[in-house]
Amino acid sequence: MSITIISTRSPEVWQRTLNEVDPDVEIEIWPNEKDKSKIEMALCWQHPEGSLQEYPNLKAVSSLGAGVDHFLKEKDFLKDIPVLRVVDPLLEQSMFEYVCTAALQIYREFDVYEKLQQDSNWQPQKPRKIGDMTVGMMGVGKLGGYCGSRLAQFGFNVIGWSQTPKQIDSIKNFTGEAELEQFLAKTDILICLLPLTDNTRGLINKTTLNQLKEGASLINVARGAHVVEQDLIDVLDQGHLNLAFLDVFNQEPLPAEHPFWQHPKIKITPHCSSVSNPKSVAPQLIENYHRMKQGKNLLNQADLARGY
Ligand code: GLV
Repeated sequence: MSITIISTRSPEVWQRTLNEVDPDVEIEIWPNEKDKSKIEMALCWQHPEGSLQEYPNLKAVSSLGAGVDHFLKEKDFLKDIPVLRVVDPLLEQSMFEYVCTAALQIYREFDVYEKLQQDSNWQPQKPRKIGDMTVGMMGVGKLGGYCGSRLAQFGFNVIGWSQTPKQIDSIKNFTGEAELEQFLAKTDILICLLPLTDNTRGLINKTTLNQLKEGASLINVARGAHVVEQDLIDVLDQGHLNLAFLDVFNQEPLPAEHPFWQHPKIKITPHCSSVSNPKSVAPQLIENYHRMKQGKNLLNQADLARGY
């Protein structure tokens, strides 16, 4: 019985690293498995739709990242198969580094100095206080909660928004549609770390962006589909929104002709804010494989009905 890897990101590295953790587990790579009926667990990153149905004896699937949205299209097929995700301190640390870097650039007005430099213009801006900058964390789950708490320790005023009530140290949390507008109205830097579900798709649109404080900025490190792309461009062009740091896009890689690339108020990174490190993550994947074999409770189980 074995595990297969269906991933657009370095499947051979995952295979090698998983075997370093446990040389006795057979690890194969889609689509070249010797016998598909032997596969009991699939480790996936952006797997092609329908590929999971090749395995008649599949007993668990795991995302190789934090998000499980790529399984949502196969909700019906997976209704009796546990869906797992990665929860990993390195993933949290790396996400914190990214959002903190972006938030600091916004707060310390690096965009303003970049423009002034183009005109050789020496023009110090009025100093601001970090505690006067409100970071609005949309999504306060594992990653959002961690990043929110660390940003608060760093000195930002952090508030959170989630669909169900959450209690996170040093973060005032707002809940549900009823409190969304209040949350946005207080926010200078909106960070999206929401799971992608039917309820959150397109949630960052012209209505919600215009409800942010005048001159606010956006950092999206969740999924491209949270943002209505044309609305984002319009609200930036109209001046209500100051900057957008985008790491995720509706289509990845972002096509060369996409207007985001050349937009003066958009900073682009290629979905690299926080990427699973095979060495750090492999032990939990192997642990879940053994738990599955022994009929024990699995770690980091997601709920596809809920969407995360
Ligand atoms: C990255 O996008 C992840 O889901 O881990």
